[in-house]
Amino acid sequence: MIMLLIAALITVCVLRWEAWFSNPAENTYIVPAEPDNIIVGFGRNCFSRTVSWRSCKQLPSFAVIDGDTILTDGSKVVSRAGEAFYYRAEKDSLSAGVHSYFVQTGELRSEDYTFYVSDDDSLRLFVFGDIQEKDTLSPFYEFCDSVIYNLCRLQDMPAMFAYCGDVIDRPTDYAWQTWFTSLRGLQTLIPQVAAVGNHEYLKGINSDCDPRWPYIFSYPDNNAERFSGTTGYIDYPTLRLVVLNTQELFWLSDYTIAQTWLNKVLSEAEKKFTVVLMHHSVFSAAMKRSNPLIYATFRHTLKKADLVIAGHDHLYTRRAKVNTYLLEDSVSYSTPVFIVTSSSSKHYIPRISADDQRIGSTASFVEDITVSNGVMKIKTREMTTGSVYDEFVIYKENNEVLISDSLPEEHILLPERYKDVNNLYVRRFYNRSKARQEN
Ligand SMILES: [Fe+2]
Repeated sequence: MIMLLIAALITVCVLRWEAWFSNPAENTYIVPAEPDNIIVGFGRNCFSRTVSWRSCKQLPSFAVIDGDTILTDGSKVVSRAGEAFYYRAEKDSLSAGVHSYFVQTGELRSEDYTFYVSDDDSLRLFVFGDIQEKDTLSPFYEFCDSVIYNLCRLQDMPAMFAYCGDVIDRPTDYAWQTWFTSLRGLQTLIPQVAAVGNHEYLKGINSDCDPRWPYIFSYPDNNAERFSGTTGYIDYPTLRLVVLNTQELFWLSDYTIAQTWLNKVLSEAEKKFTVVLMHHSVFSAAMKRSNPLIYATFRHTLKKADLVIAGHDHLYTRRAKVNTYLLEDSVSYSTPVFIVTSSSSKHYIPRISADDQRIGSTASFVEDITVSNGVMKIKTREMTTGSVYDEFVIYKENNEVLISDSLPEEHILLPERYKDVNNLYVRRFYNRSKARQEN
């Protein structure tokens, strides 16, 4: 019996070797001496900002923000095929509006930049699913292009770009430069915050987060124990955005620590809207996928959240809590609302669960969220056209969720690369999509 189990284990490992243990090589790279990959993040609160950058040199460095000089030391970060020194400066108590800055390492000074601090009365955030692109010819690039085009309208300026993980394709310098290039400078203006995904980790038995991650993204100092640099929450007076790490959950104690921290953070949010970002979803959107430990650990706790946004499945689904009224033969919806979203050009086969009220496949989406006067408006837009695919409103006062009654027809399509495939999952897809259309 034991021999059979060992044989089965070896067979599974051989079949899954590529998926579990194989890492594409990182090409050798040289980092420039002048400040490079400049990026703005959140500091200790919503009116604090960090400015981070890298250089090949470790020299006296500083940022000048609104005329104030902030000194910083470099940290050497070594990846598989190169190294760089990363710098970070932070400034607090910033007023809402535009602030000017530049950074300098040694004698090499950056251009002048500005970053934006949003007013809590008119919060707008863009939330992305997986980007995970291999080159810059991508929906994400096109979306950033449209944001740049509209930047003249200050009232439309987002408070942040937030990501549900798999920002990059693999932990290589090439992948990071693809993401920075696609942003086209928006990362110097709009703070970037991200949950970490599996594509930011080197595969292996001891899967490690890319060493550049905590130097590129900054978090307030309020993380879960053991998850420094990958968890935290950002507090606005009306919004608490919580970033969870679902990738580094290995031991049972990891799950316990993460769940306890999440429960505390959501319980203490008081009257703020709570939005949770996580890479692996509680309710999987893709065929053949499920995250039973994530479901078992976080499902109950996440009932305290208003909106939970996950990625990983390269699909869109929305699932709000359903309230049924038998006598009136009607339904209404309330929080929490679970969204799985994708901003990638890579697409998976939809699971097509009857519990998902809205499904979208073979498209790339961005969540366009605004918060004001106790109302959160969520518009799921197709990234390349900006057209609204899903739309609903959450009222904080009574947790009611009101779904738009003028949504376009649902598009649930089989991704192109499965068109000539005839297997169990493709057949199941056709059967379920037919059944959904008939209902
Ligand atoms: Fe993923």
